Amino acid sequence: MGRFDTPQDPLFQRINASISFDRRLWPQDIRGSLAHARGLRRAGVLTDEELAELERGLEAVAGELERGEFPFREDDEDIHMAVERRLTEIIGPLGGKLHTARSRNDQVATDVALFVREAAERALGLVRELMGTLLDLAERHADWPLPGYTHLQRAQPVYLGHHLLAYFWMLRRDARRLAAARDAAAAEMPLGSGALAGLNWELDREGTAAELGFAAPSPNSLDAVSNRDAVLDYLSAAAICATHLSRLGSELVLWSSQEFGFCEPADDFSSGSSIMPQKKNPDAAELLRAKAPRVVASLNTLLGVLHALPLAYSKDLQEDKEALFDAVDTLETCLAAANRMLEGITFNRERLAAAAADEFPAATDVADLLVRKGMPFREAHGVVGSLVRKALASGRRLSELSPDEIRAESELLDDEYYEVLRAGEWLESKRSPGGTSSARVREQLEAARAVLAELG
Ligand code: ARG
Repeated sequence: MGRFDTPQDPLFQRINASISFDRRLWPQDIRGSLAHARGLRRAGVLTDEELAELERGLEAVAGELERGEFPFREDDEDIHMAVERRLTEIIGPLGGKLHTARSRNDQVATDVALFVREAAERALGLVRELMGTLLDLAERHADWPLPGYTHLQRAQPVYLGHHLLAYFWMLRRDARRLAAARDAAAAEMPLGSGALAGLNWELDREGTAAELGFAAPSPNSLDAVSNRDAVLDYLSAAAICATHLSRLGSELVLWSSQEFGFCEPADDFSSGSSIMPQKKNPDAAELLRAKAPRVVASLNTLLGVLHALPLAYSKDLQEDKEALFDAVDTLETCLAAANRMLEGITFNRERLAAAAADEFPAATDVADLLVRKGMPFREAHGVVGSLVRKALASGRRLSELSPDEIRAESELLDDEYYEVLRAGEWLESKRSPGGTSSARVREQLEAARAVLAELG
């Protein structure tokens, strides 16, 4: 190149080149270049014929990339230079006019923003699908009791539909965050900022922004070329979403163990063991658990790259891409796999019911009974604690304590005690909005339907 005497050291090329990974930005790069060429025409930099020729050339390059026939060269540094190099090979020196009034700094920022917008839209679609599957599953298991847990100790029974819907609402928040990331990526168009200070040309940036689907041109050229906030928005939404999926995966791993026996993955979504023929492993659920930290690491990588980075563009910013691409691929695989896994899962009603029939989780309900009869909750908590201790010590259920035994703990305890302990009562007593009683779960299912319809 012009100002250098010696060719680049191969090791410099190795650390500097991004072509091995940023080649996947080619569709965005071509779109950006087409829009830029039209902007150059409007500014009078190109004639109609030149624009037509550039468009033809860019379409030809896109065709080669699309078909996997693009002749990449050893010394292509990044996708932007490779496209321009090939364009010039195809249409001649006119190709060199495309980079008028453009820097790779505003070019790459624009490409990445376009990429994030599309990735966020795809993730949103996948989140919606998963929400739909969860909702169907919740509807089909709306009245299947199972134990709810705190500290992974049986706490209070809930309906399986209620439990599954917990993930639905998590994903709804993910959908909101992804939509915000998509909108952030479409808010400000960096193109037209030049290397950092703006351009010597009066381009119609509004027109180009509209063509590329941005709300407006970026208001500050320094910020524009070094802004990766939309990538951060996407990565943090993705990290949170993947973390949600890891919780789902973790529960399914537990639940499909013989110890729980609550569910079983479909045959085509589990693996056997090469040595233990009896085994059926929930690998996909385990991987949902383990993929999340990788997405979180991508977020961390970019936060690290941006940390204390002075304005404006520095080559550090090239490190945004691998983190982004890996997160995009990982999240999309996880969302799709979670969806398929849930579509094929089966729950074991008997095992769930047997676990939920454990009476001790109803202890809170007995305490509430005492409260309704006028005892302060703290005192009731103590009374029921004694009852639990008595039952445990003699290997009985709470309902197997005699009327005399219960009255010995409190005069207020009568036949209603046994009623409260009847199976099902505990669940149906959770009538507060958002609670697990059938009526509230039905309400929730309806609300979830409406949310899903709204998400399109
Ligand atoms: N490959 C570079 C990146 O991804 C493109 C921008 C290069 N700009 C520069 N001034 N060297 O960031």
